[in-house]
Amino acid sequence: SGTYQAHFRVWRGDADAGELVDFTVEVHEGEVVLDIVHRLQATQAPDLAVRWNCKAGKCGSCSAEINGRPRLMCMTRMSVFERTETLTITPLRAFPVVRDLVTDVSFNYTKAREIPSFVPPPELAPGEYRMQQEDVGRSQEFRKCIECFLCQDTCHVVRDHEENKAAFAGPRFLMRIAELDMHPLDAAPESGIDRKATAQDEHGLGYCNITKCCTEVCPEHIKITDNALIPLKERAADRKYDPLVWLGNKIRRR
Ligand code: SF4
Ligand code: F3S
Ligand code: FES
Repeated sequence: SGTYQAHFRVWRGDADAGELVDFTVEVHEGEVVLDIVHRLQATQAPDLAVRWNCKAGKCGSCSAEINGRPRLMCMTRMSVFERTETLTITPLRAFPVVRDLVTDVSFNYTKAREIPSFVPPPELAPGEYRMQQEDVGRSQEFRKCIECFLCQDTCHVVRDHEENKAAFAGPRFLMRIAELDMHPLDAAPESGIDRKATAQDEHGLGYCNITKCCTEVCPEHIKITDNALIPLKERAADRKYDPLVWLGNKIRRR
């Protein structure tokens, strides 16, 4: 039948201490991990803290780790696991625990605030923007991001290295810089903001050694490494080692 009893180990605790607690929970046909966490709350652990909103893979709230892999709980079908397997559900490891499965992801909001937004070209009114389809497509891919921070959680640069957090913005925000740096209408350079320089000097682009773990966990299948991080590295390297390329880029923009 479609219904069975599954074994779970769920991390329970707060910022000071915690432990894995064993539960047996009923699973029905077609359910996802978040359904089981909700049943656990309804039947055995009413005070279990979990964050979620949309149940449709769009709000980015239900991020956690299942058997050590960062995933959206609402998009992880129970059918991908063996019925006899014990599923271990833990909070995102790279961020401080608030309680149970809820972590404090404010690191990401701090990094977001450090990146200057798009600078509108002063000579154009909003309706006059013209861009090649290729440039539009690139921004559209990056803007599919739901800010689940699974990529931020999985990147080895910060995952077990709290000390790197101050110097590294993480894949999601290096992608944001890449998007703006490759945006043909961004007037940041003319207003004195060198996005390549800040990526290198303030946001730790050099820490990324393109392991692509970020890309592998992205629920929106954004090619973070290939389409954002590697191009940004190439552009930043040009700036550093080849002043003529840098000057050429400046002139071409005009
Ligand atoms: Fe999540 Fe992908 Fe956005 Fe990273 S880039 S925060 S993995 S949606
Ligand atoms: Fe980290 Fe992704 Fe680079 S996982 S090392 S940001 S390719
Ligand atoms: Fe919104 Fe899972 S609840 S992404």
